[in-house]
Amino acid sequence: MLIVVLLLIAALVYYYGINRILGLPPGPPPLPLIGNMLSFRWDLDNVLLDWKSKYGRVFTAWLPFPMVVIGDHQLLQEHVVKNGDVYLAKRNPEQLMEMMSGGLYGLVFEDNNMVKEQRKFAMKTLHEVGFGSAALEDTVHHYGQEVVSRWRKSGGAEVDVTENIMKAIGNVVWNVTFGLDLEFDNEIVPKFRQLQQDTIPLLAGPLMMFIEMFPFLRKLDFLFGNHVKQLKGFMDESNEIVVNAIKTTEKNFNPDNQPRSYVESFLREMKKNEEAGKPAGNFHYEQMKSSASTIWGAGFDTTVSILRMCCLELVNNPQVQRKLQKEIDDIIGERRIRNDDQKQLPYTCAFLQEIYRLGHVLPINFLRQTTQDTTIEGFRLASGTTVLPQFSMVHSDPKEFERPDFFCPERHIDDEGSFIKDPRITPFSIGKRACLGETLARMEIFVLFATFVQTCHFTPAGKVPPPIDFIYGFTRSVNHFVVKIEPRN
Ligand code: HEM
Repeated sequence: MLIVVLLLIAALVYYYGINRILGLPPGPPPLPLIGNMLSFRWDLDNVLLDWKSKYGRVFTAWLPFPMVVIGDHQLLQEHVVKNGDVYLAKRNPEQLMEMMSGGLYGLVFEDNNMVKEQRKFAMKTLHEVGFGSAALEDTVHHYGQEVVSRWRKSGGAEVDVTENIMKAIGNVVWNVTFGLDLEFDNEIVPKFRQLQQDTIPLLAGPLMMFIEMFPFLRKLDFLFGNHVKQLKGFMDESNEIVVNAIKTTEKNFNPDNQPRSYVESFLREMKKNEEAGKPAGNFHYEQMKSSASTIWGAGFDTTVSILRMCCLELVNNPQVQRKLQKEIDDIIGERRIRNDDQKQLPYTCAFLQEIYRLGHVLPINFLRQTTQDTTIEGFRLASGTTVLPQFSMVHSDPKEFERPDFFCPERHIDDEGSFIKDPRITPFSIGKRACLGETLARMEIFVLFATFVQTCHFTPAGKVPPPIDFIYGFTRSVNHFVVKIEPRN
């Protein structure tokens, strides 16, 4: 009896006092072992928003381990951006990485000691192979032309815009990653997207969250419908695609030529170290394979999702579509769209900023880990505390944006008709681990979207436009939809 009473008291102390005992910010009271997992929903971003309204701009959530959630623009800037080095490390999903890459390699979840070196190398390389260059913009424009020429011939049939957008983006990222040209209608891109679609729901969710906290659960996989086995199968298939692409790149590789891709640069670095008799360090095959997988994987469906959402908002907002068409007709006419045209197209920029505000592709951002003791809102966070910089909460905060759920490009236009760039909208995240592909993604999205509006008119396939609903998993994207497309001009 005494034991039961003591256990009850311990549970109550835990429930009401564990955050205070650990010096963490307040938050929803956690249960022993499972934390706040009873509140788990697939749209966890909305659950976090509810908690923010109850507990304030920084709070603790136990999912199932404790994480300090920062969901306020000013705090994110003051801490995660200004104190970038303190928030540099990731809390790595070691079990997942072991399944996916055999260890902490790659660019998202690499070993925290190698972050600076590998990130710097990737950023330098990606710029050398074309980020921000006219040549890459030409490639994107070329694929954009292919997409719209197919749509313009659809002759009133229902069109799933995903298919051709996926091929265009997939081909660009494949090229940047491996330096290989694919046919527009190759089999690799749709196969890889299908694998990503199959993997995404399995990657997220309560089971994987518990496995990270209690790795022995992996051994009980048979009790959970062989979830891990299935996940591992899809990952092996994805890895095989990457391994085969690296083999092809290696065959054609000449270290004396200027690298055309991330993999070629990496091969050159490996060769340089070898010839100089230097230790390989982090420039080894596993790191190359995993990083190539990261760039190819991270740069693909994210961009496709945003462009799909653009098309969906066009059919839902015909008056917005007309304004976009008028702006592009007046300023650009029929000449080719260039990335530089953004300066002259305020309404198009406002539309895209509104898409970036509402279309966040990660429901839950990647977790960071403080690299030293620090203080936030009077709470002292010990080195190694898990932090969630949940920038998308700023985008949906009614204190920041009036009627945040309402799609309204006009909110980004001033009285003179100029575009207002809003620093609170950070779709590529913030601080020293923000997205590595932002330059490429912004260029692809602008050039392709403006080309779509210039050449095509989008209407609902039925009497009413398709709803703007999201499917959740590890990522978040709009549900399947079809539209009708007529040629303009
Ligand atoms: C619309 C398109 C994209 C969006 C919305 C997006 C968004 C993001 C976000 C939110 C993160 C997490 C940052 C954090 O941990 O705080 C991220 C990380 C990353 N993204 Fe993107 N991304 C996009 C396209 C791309 C492209 C085109 C590439 C490469 C070709 C790319 C490569 C990466 C990499 C390598 C990381 C990991 C960075 C790190 O952990 O240091 N992304 N992205």
